[in-house]
Amino acid sequence: MSNDRSTILIVDDEASIRNLLALSLEDRYKIETAATADEALAKAREVRPQVVLLDIALSPYGGGQEGLEILPKLIDIDPKVKVVMVTGNTERANALAAIRDGAIDFYAKPIDLSDLKVIVDRAAYIRSLEDESLRPNTSEDQYTGFSNIIGHSPRMLKVFRLVETVAPTPYTVLISGESGTGKELIAKAIHSRSERSDKAFITINCGAIPENLLESELFGHEKGAFTDAFAQKIGKFELADKGTLFLDEIGELSLALQVKLLRFLQDRIIERVGGKAVIQVDVRIIAATNRSLSEEVEEKRFREDLYYRLTVINVDLPPLREREDDVAIIANYLLGVYGSENAKTNLNFSPSALQRIRSYNWPGNIRELENRIKRAVILSGSHRLTPEDLAFEGASGAEQKSLLQVREEAESNHIRAALVRNSWNVSKAARDLGTSRTTLYDLLEKYKIIKDK
Ligand SMILES: Nc1ncnc2c1ncn2[C@@H]1O[C@H](COP(=O)(O)OP(=O)(O)OP(=O)(O)O)[C@@H](O)[C@H]1O
Ligand SMILES: [Mg+2]
Repeated sequence: MSNDRSTILIVDDEASIRNLLALSLEDRYKIETAATADEALAKAREVRPQVVLLDIALSPYGGGQEGLEILPKLIDIDPKVKVVMVTGNTERANALAAIRDGAIDFYAKPIDLSDLKVIVDRAAYIRSLEDESLRPNTSEDQYTGFSNIIGHSPRMLKVFRLVETVAPTPYTVLISGESGTGKELIAKAIHSRSERSDKAFITINCGAIPENLLESELFGHEKGAFTDAFAQKIGKFELADKGTLFLDEIGELSLALQVKLLRFLQDRIIERVGGKAVIQVDVRIIAATNRSLSEEVEEKRFREDLYYRLTVINVDLPPLREREDDVAIIANYLLGVYGSENAKTNLNFSPSALQRIRSYNWPGNIRELENRIKRAVILSGSHRLTPEDLAFEGASGAEQKSLLQVREEAESNHIRAALVRNSWNVSKAARDLGTSRTTLYDLLEKYKIIKDK
């Protein structure tokens, strides 16, 4: 990865911590250290570190805020510097204030080195992207492990660990989660951490292609197999040979195609449409769903035997609203990414914008966050993005909202979440919400709720 020459400046008043951090990072980074605020600023001017690990309480005697105080100065020296705050576990509020002031992430003591490494790698990677003005995943064949998957809530760390464990195995993986939670990103991370990483990663969205076409898209067809089959076609299974096939929205697969997929999973063979030969392919399947597949099984829309084959390993992605403070960190990350894409590097969120980001319930998850930030970066004329820039309704602050507005906003969010949960099936969502379909349709009209994407 391109960050192996990055310089990390470690700022901590405790020598033992400086040494511990230096030891654990020096195999991949150039390490500099500083024990005091002044020393840190001098070093920052001298060596221009890409990443700074900054202890919030630099001296046990000085009120415990020196780290926070020098943060803006470090950013003045180099606006692109990525500062990770290291905090005691009682300083959470300070850590969040630091994020608001431009720190990219924070980490609480006691230090778990493997977790911290993930965070440092990511900060260095983001910086390298900014330096190269590159975006993650701009090209389909560039996969970057976890560095572009932001989050250190306990639930996401669990996801990362699971992904790390299963990636090198040949097992089929099912990724579940609401829409916009990062299922495709995780699928790519699994592929990139597997032995197949230099082979093809082929994606097909089972919900986006009509059933009659889907079969030959997946399995290919022989010339003359049906009226329009003028030539032989190689399907995605064969294209993914030795690599990974990502079956997105697997819940949309028809029962007939479920049988063919099951056959592949059992015997590793496929047949082209209209073909007689049995073809052996070596393909790892990763599937994704935003529906509950077990419910689909209960309702006999999904084969139970296939369900069990697919769910050997299940990576379940939590919705953004259940990832604690990840949302602020992801928002800052995306701000960096879209800022540099639009040649605006010094952007930050106003305190009220950050507050809205943290309190909103994100029915469209990270995709929605991303869309709001993209739009704000393009449209805002200022460095400081406001709730208005992020298209939060009644954006001038929660205090000024009327009770009615609050109620309506809550209602609208709640409806949206129910629809997302039910893959936009209005009848099911209405049942969930304990209302009738007609009432729900009226509400959709009232709140102008439309399906994402
Ligand atoms: N943890 C994360 N950190 C940074 N970016 C993320 C994260 N999770 C998702 N994203 C970004 O959010 C967008 C949505 O992610 P992705 O397409 O993987 O979600 P999905 O679950 O497949 O969504 P859908 O159900 O809509 O297909 C992508 O642009 C992705 O790069
Ligand atoms: Mg997707």
